[in-house]
Amino acid sequence: MSDPKIIVALDYPGAVPALALAHRLSPELCRLKVGKELFTATGPSLLEQLMKRGFEIFLDLKFHDIPNTTAQACKAAASLGVWMVNVHALGGRKMLEAAQLAVSNCAKPPKLIAVTLLTSMNQEDISDLGINATPEQMVLRLAAMAKESGLDGVVCSAMETEILRKQLGNKFCLVTPGIRPPAASLDDQSRVMTPEAALRAGSSYLVIGRPITKAADPLQALIDINMGIRGIA
Ligand code: C5P
Repeated sequence: MSDPKIIVALDYPGAVPALALAHRLSPELCRLKVGKELFTATGPSLLEQLMKRGFEIFLDLKFHDIPNTTAQACKAAASLGVWMVNVHALGGRKMLEAAQLAVSNCAKPPKLIAVTLLTSMNQEDISDLGINATPEQMVLRLAAMAKESGLDGVVCSAMETEILRKQLGNKFCLVTPGIRPPAASLDDQSRVMTPEAALRAGSSYLVIGRPITKAADPLQALIDINMGIRGIA
């Protein structure tokens, strides 16, 4: 089975446009990310339909709750047959360990990764929470905690990839959004990297939305990006 590096973000309000886009792509070339908006609107039936078409799914629901509730949510996600699921590292070590244990007891464990610090949070927001640390210190600390808790990896900005790869070793999975092919529109992203640069910096998987979903020919856009990273990934 191939291991495509691109995870296409299905940021849609409902099943119809999500399935229409999936219909134009190929599971050999990408995986698909289903987040809170789409999953809340459609529920597991959409996942079943996407998986029936051969796609592996990153269920991006960023669980964050008491350890038992988070563990049960991860177990429920695993029972849906998804490839990857995530939690918030800010839920703390006990929550991360409970989630990891729940997933590892499943028949077909998904990859479990953690969000460290949302990239929407800046220094002012962190200080406002009463936390005395820089965003970088928090990312490094929370990523190390995710690794120590047995998780498979973290979501991180491409800008953080190099230092996390050095600190956390070759096997830790780094999933990076904020990716833009050369010459693509930035949309609302500000600190972006090209697919090639992100993989060279140590990313394991690239989350890419609008450069593919809004392209006139999404399949061609996906093929072009895959061509650009051939031999690196
Ligand atoms: O369209 P675009 O490529 O910007 O989409 C990126 C995807 O990655 C979106 O689903 C967005 O919510 C997600 N994401 C992000 N930045 C983060 C975490 C997630 O852009 N820090």
